[in-house]
Amino acid sequence: MARKAAKLQLGLVQKGSERDDPPGEPGSRLVGYVVVTGNLEGGDPLLEDLVVAKEHRKRGVGIRLVQMLLEHPAIKASQRLDLYCYPSLMPFYGKFGFRKVRGGEDPTSKAFMRLQISSR
Ligand SMILES: CC(C)(COP(=O)(O)OP(=O)(O)OC[C@H]1O[C@@H](n2cnc3c(N)ncnc32)[C@H](O)[C@@H]1OP(=O)(O)O)[C@@H](O)C(=O)NCCC(=O)NCCS
Repeated sequence: MARKAAKLQLGLVQKGSERDDPPGEPGSRLVGYVVVTGNLEGGDPLLEDLVVAKEHRKRGVGIRLVQMLLEHPAIKASQRLDLYCYPSLMPFYGKFGFRKVRGGEDPTSKAFMRLQISSR
C-alpha cells in the first residue's frame, strides 16, 4: 500500500484588541505552533518544529501544543512519532512518553527521540 506523505501544522492563536494589532494581523496573534511531516495515519511522522513566541514561554503553551498534537486523529492513527532535540529538552518531551533512541550525549548534539503511539 502506498504511504501518505503529508504535513500537519497546529497553532495556538491569542485574540488581541484591534488597537494593539500589528498591520496585516487584525484580531489575533500566533502564540505558538507545531509542525509534523512524514507518513501520517499509520506511518512514522516526524515532529519537525515546536515554537512558542518568546513572550509566551514558560506558561504551559508548549505543553498544550504537544497535547493538542497527540490528540489529533492523524497522530493517534500513527504507530509512532519521532523527533530530534537538544538534551536540555529531553525532560520536556519525556513527560509525554518520548524516549531517547540515540544521541544527545553532549549539550550540542541532538538526541533522536521516539514516542510509541500504539503502546499508549
Ligand atoms: C521549547 C519550547 C517550545 C517550550 O515552550 P514553553 O511554552 O516555554 O514550554 P512550557 O511552558 O509548556 O514548559 C513546560 C516544561 O518544559 C520546561 N522547558 C520549557 N522550555 C525548556 C527549555 N528550553 N529547556 C529546558 N526545559 C524547558 C519548562 O521548564 C516546563 O517544565 P516544568 O513544568 O517542570 O516547569 C520553547 O521554549 C521554544 O519555542 N523554544 C525555541 C524553539 C525550540 O527549541 N523548539 C524545540 C524544537 S525540538
